[in-house]
Amino acid sequence: MGNVILIGFMGSGKTTVGLRLSYRLRRPVIDTDKEIEREEQRTISDIFAADGEAYFRDKETACLRKLIGSANHQIISVGGGLPIREENRALLHELGQVFYLQAKGETIYERVKDDTTRPLLQGGDPLAKIQALLNERDPYYQAAADVVIAVDGKSFEQILNEIEEHVNERERNVSTEG
Ligand code: S3P
Repeated sequence: MGNVILIGFMGSGKTTVGLRLSYRLRRPVIDTDKEIEREEQRTISDIFAADGEAYFRDKETACLRKLIGSANHQIISVGGGLPIREENRALLHELGQVFYLQAKGETIYERVKDDTTRPLLQGGDPLAKIQALLNERDPYYQAAADVVIAVDGKSFEQILNEIEEHVNERERNVSTEG
């Protein structure tokens, strides 16, 4: 449906890339975490604490289903755990072109080490947690993605340029097919 979708681990830059891409491509941006927080009138941390992760995961799938009916030609950034569900990967594919912002564990650690808003990274050894979860999730992100963008050591400008090239290429293909 012509949307641009950003997936990847917590701290891989989805939210920032989404906002900047929104300005550049002049398309609205939606973030699934923010949509869920708005609907639930509480933060992700509160949702996890009160109702648990499984409840939150169902909200993510419901959010994607809603977007299938409403989002077209938008930028959509999604929570780091969303692409793990097979059903969600199919919905992402239906929604548009999926970009995986692939980052190394160390890069992610540097960005999220002082953040208390991500329940899955609290307590214990955060770098080890990140590394373990990243190894587990990377295959799912790859499976969900049309394009993998390696972000380590790149400026936002470079990342945006790469994404824009792929978006333009897809649009050229669509217009010659149509
Ligand atoms: C999660 C990532 C978070 C948020 C929730 C769970 C995850 O989103 O959805 O805390 O399982 O990786 P961000 O990737 O935007 O931090």
